[in-house]
Amino acid sequence: MATYRIAWLPGDGVGAEVLDAASKVLDAVGFEAEYVPGDIGWEFWKTEGNPLPDRTVELLKSTDACLFGAITSKPKDEAAAELAPELRDAGYVYSSPIVGLRQLFQLHTNLRPCKAYPGNPLNLRDDIDLVVFRENTEGLYAGVEFHPVPDGVRKALEEHPKMKRFAEVDGTDMAISTRVFTREGCRTILRDAFEYAKTFGYPTVTVIEKPNVIRETSGLMVREARAMAEEYPGIELWETNIDAMCMWLVKNPQDYGVLVSSNMFGDIISDLAAQIVGGLGFAGAGNIGDNFGVFEPTHGSAPKYAGQDKVNPIATIRAAKMMLDYLGEREKAEHIEAAVARVIAEGTKRTYDMGGSSSTSEVASAVAEAAA
Ligand code: IPM
Ligand code: MG
Repeated sequence: MATYRIAWLPGDGVGAEVLDAASKVLDAVGFEAEYVPGDIGWEFWKTEGNPLPDRTVELLKSTDACLFGAITSKPKDEAAAELAPELRDAGYVYSSPIVGLRQLFQLHTNLRPCKAYPGNPLNLRDDIDLVVFRENTEGLYAGVEFHPVPDGVRKALEEHPKMKRFAEVDGTDMAISTRVFTREGCRTILRDAFEYAKTFGYPTVTVIEKPNVIRETSGLMVREARAMAEEYPGIELWETNIDAMCMWLVKNPQDYGVLVSSNMFGDIISDLAAQIVGGLGFAGAGNIGDNFGVFEPTHGSAPKYAGQDKVNPIATIRAAKMMLDYLGEREKAEHIEAAVARVIAEGTKRTYDMGGSSSTSEVASAVAEAAA
């Protein structure tokens, strides 16, 4: 009998191919699970006006964890234009289903390890070992936005001296996206980052914000980071602004270990961190809350490669490995990790991004064989 019940959400584009790749590897290490497929993505936006149907949310509630492929996201107006004719002008507004899942299930921690595997020709350097902790439910991606700006919001903001210069602008000619941080949200992501550093022996935690300009929200995060650092005498807290961090990660990435940031800055920094160790084809991510976890490759749906058995499956295989860690299946997880490292080091099976000509499924089979 299957031990676990895993929600299986391929989504759009290459999502199905990379999930197939992960399933080969999960089978090879003897992970026993029932995989329950669910609907998510663009197709359901177009036909139902909802890329994350309620039935999928219900399904997730009955599982232990979820493996998620990829979804296509488009800005509001482009999305509206692709709705089925009978759904148009009915008030449907597109919003990203993965962002929705993170909020619905309170998956507060987005964990993205970016490590240089020995022998990967795409590494910027071979001694990079970064782990990004991205706050996953608040900040600019919380979705508290206004356009046009309603009178009530307008009135409340008018009290702020810096709003004076916008006094003459009509509400219809203005858009406002808010950046909401809570103390609890900051402390939760910081706690996870410090605990990870402590458990795995990283000497530093770098908090990445911009408190010299975004005084209140970034200020809160940095203050809380300083307070928490007091509890971890063996770990040094470094504070870096987001812009400078983009530079340092290209210049001296080997100096850093655990990185922690808010939602949008964490989104940016995690793409950069992924690129210096091979690109999005290597970056797996865990969206982890107190009661549920959704694991995914960081890359998108890559529509131009869909159905070609071409993209690098390693990101999704690593996401599956992270799911096993989350479920407490450490030994199986380590087998996957070692197998990925071996296939990369051997270098005979490589997808196009690594300069090779192997297919998604060939690389997946090679990892599965090495992991068995
Ligand atoms: C990511 C992606 C998503 C995000 C998109 C697809 C909404 O960029 O997981 O990093 O911005 O969080
Ligand atoms: Mg991103």
